[in-house]
Amino acid sequence: MTTVLMLIGLRKTIMSIFITWGALHLNFYKLVLLLLLNTKPAHRFIPTKVATAITLLSQMGPSLPSQQSNIIEENVNEKINQQFEELITTLPSDKGLIVPTLINYKGFWYPPISIFKGVLLMQDQFKARSTDIFLCSAPKTGTTWLKALTFATMNRSKFEFATHPLLTTVPHNCMPYLDAYITDHDVEALPSPRLLSSHSAYSLLPKSTRESPDCKIVYICRNPKDVFVSDYLFSMKLRAPMFPPISMEEAFDLFCKGVCLYGPYFEHVLGYWKARLESPEKILFLKYEEMRRDPVKHVKHLAEFLGKPFSAEEEKAGVIEEILKLCSFDKLTSLEVSKTGKVAFVPEIAIGNETFYRKGKVGDSKNHLTPEMIERLDKITEEKLKGTGFAFGE
Ligand code: A3P
Repeated sequence: MTTVLMLIGLRKTIMSIFITWGALHLNFYKLVLLLLLNTKPAHRFIPTKVATAITLLSQMGPSLPSQQSNIIEENVNEKINQQFEELITTLPSDKGLIVPTLINYKGFWYPPISIFKGVLLMQDQFKARSTDIFLCSAPKTGTTWLKALTFATMNRSKFEFATHPLLTTVPHNCMPYLDAYITDHDVEALPSPRLLSSHSAYSLLPKSTRESPDCKIVYICRNPKDVFVSDYLFSMKLRAPMFPPISMEEAFDLFCKGVCLYGPYFEHVLGYWKARLESPEKILFLKYEEMRRDPVKHVKHLAEFLGKPFSAEEEKAGVIEEILKLCSFDKLTSLEVSKTGKVAFVPEIAIGNETFYRKGKVGDSKNHLTPEMIERLDKITEEKLKGTGFAFGE
């Protein structure tokens, strides 16, 4: 009994030293996040619904949802934990939308939660396979749609359209989101070809992925005005009520100075664009607007790039159209799974599946941004793209 009381006393003393130190060195939100999130998974507060979503994720394979993937206690070792703690207290920080604080790691903004541990792990441990397929994107650029299209294209001979897994599984659960998945799953246990996704900038992808001549990267981008609006509205749905609201004007200022999840957005896009110019056979660069305009052409191109071109028989049988119908905004939003389920990429945040769909339109930002905002972002876009040879889709 005495020993237990002593241990409790010691824990309290350590906590108060930690809190005092934290209050001196971090802003309030960083401290709250540290206390809430930087504990072992077993000790974290995980609401039941989140735990259910985690279980669901763990039961899905990358390209074969019926297979069990290996969920493991935690890949995060002492070295990564130490690196994480050191970095989140020393890196430059600014305001975030979903979580109140973002930290800048090697030029890009991350939330100081387990995703960031995942990014450190990805760089430290991930070993690319020549057959890997990486689907990369900044948030709100059409990731959900592209995941569905890629999954359906790659697995078209495995599943009937009438009983397809995408009818009952949200696209995010068909393809692991490596930045988060790697923290507590054995990525080595995933069967080849691994279909993986990442929101990280090109320069922060695992070195072996960047250097492998064979593994493929599919990148999607979208015009920055629509990305900003989509991101702001999405983030406000997920921002915890305990944190003060952020106005669209303030979020816009942050976006314009480059502060947004996984951003700066322009640097994210241009990083992949430059890499694509150097290795066109390795990186396929897609634009949301162009895909919306001519999806058949782009799905055909995607299949060719991934080494699974549609045969003449498939084309005649209307397989491309079937894939497009299955992955269409109207179809996906009509499904029960899109209305009820949740995805927990990380234990800290569960995202309602319906949140991934809003309007799916090109140019909706004009209904939300003032003419001044449009002018300002257009000017920034022009400056950022000058001399790059790149233009966003319209
Ligand atoms: P809006 O908010 O403009 O509607 P991400 O998947 O990268 O988070 O991007 C989300 C954006 O893609 C949202 O844009 C969402 O509505 C749109 N989207 C989701 N599924 C789609 C689909 N099947 N077809 C077209 N757009 C889709």
